[in-house]
Amino acid sequence: MNKRPCMEVLGTGRAVPEKILTNQDLEKMVDTSDEWILARTGIRQRHIAEPGVPLSFFAARAAREALADAGVAAEEIDLIILGTVTGDSKFPATACVVQDLIGASKAAAFDISAACSGFLYGLQLAESMMAIQGYRRILLIGGEILSSMVNWQDRDTCVLFGDGVGAVVLGPGQGACGILSTTIHSDGAFRDLLYSPGCGSLNPPSHENVDKMLHTIRMEGREVFRHAVTSMADALNQALDMAGVVVEDLDLLIPHQANLRIIEAVGKRFRLSPDKIYVNVDRFGNTSAASIPIALDEARKTGRIASGSLVGMVTFGAGFTWAAAVVRF
Ligand code: ACO
Repeated sequence: MNKRPCMEVLGTGRAVPEKILTNQDLEKMVDTSDEWILARTGIRQRHIAEPGVPLSFFAARAAREALADAGVAAEEIDLIILGTVTGDSKFPATACVVQDLIGASKAAAFDISAACSGFLYGLQLAESMMAIQGYRRILLIGGEILSSMVNWQDRDTCVLFGDGVGAVVLGPGQGACGILSTTIHSDGAFRDLLYSPGCGSLNPPSHENVDKMLHTIRMEGREVFRHAVTSMADALNQALDMAGVVVEDLDLLIPHQANLRIIEAVGKRFRLSPDKIYVNVDRFGNTSAASIPIALDEARKTGRIASGSLVGMVTFGAGFTWAAAVVRF
């Protein structure tokens, strides 16, 4: 049974740095090879910001594109939610910086931290705030400058990540279109399998902690892989049930773009044909909170999503956190 959606996507946008780091470039930096990276991850290249160019720069660009696509003026935005773990600084929230950059003077703005699940966590939050508080024009952004916290000497992790931002403008649902379901989950017992130990209050910034590279990403790749596939499948099943649809009804699945093998394993569990699964991890790498909104924007603007399309989205990330949503466009 489909519920009547209270919120729909009015427009989308994306922004990625111009600079591209290929697998061949990485071969010159660490002991790795294009063959290994491609076979284990499906990644060929990733976009990397120039040092010192902050998240807000790309977030504002993606936001302006989404606003133009939606035909909504910045002054009409009443709420900005930004999912990220790589904001410009510890505080204020980077969403406040974006608010100023785009001139969304009437908006409330804040960041949320749910790693790769940041965008879908934000989608549920936006829907709740629209339903309960009556916000009418919400700018939801997922973005990361992960290159700022990658250890470029660690081949286990440095080949995986990229930088970028995706943004959507959300408004009250009309008719049958809109967000049909969202589901979010966490399990902090697994927080040490994918994390950055510094430089927060646990390991405050110090020369010693930076020398130990505590500010960079640590990951148990195999464990993350195992949990990711199971949790993404569970979340997607739940979101489909909540929306009152079955997987065969989906026109497109947009999974978090972490690794082609994870995407394929999830697709296999649902017996989805590859043409129903959106993949761009080869060009962007894992952009964490940005991966779904970047893919969503590409899919809309290349015609993979049309009016009436039923789209599933599913993700998994540090925390652990995982989430899914079903949307009718
Ligand atoms: N180049 C060459 N060799 C490498 C590299 C590299 N970049 N990285 C690791 N290796 C080596 C390892 O040292 C190891 O060598 P050994 O057998 O001599 O010890 C060998 O390759 C196999 O290493 P594994 O870690 O077992 O390789 P695996 O097949 O598990 O692939 C990977 C690693 C790609 C990280 C995989 O585990 C994975 O994708 N995990 C999911 C993690 C992920 O996507 N995290 C992103 C954040 S969470 C999220 O977004 C879902």
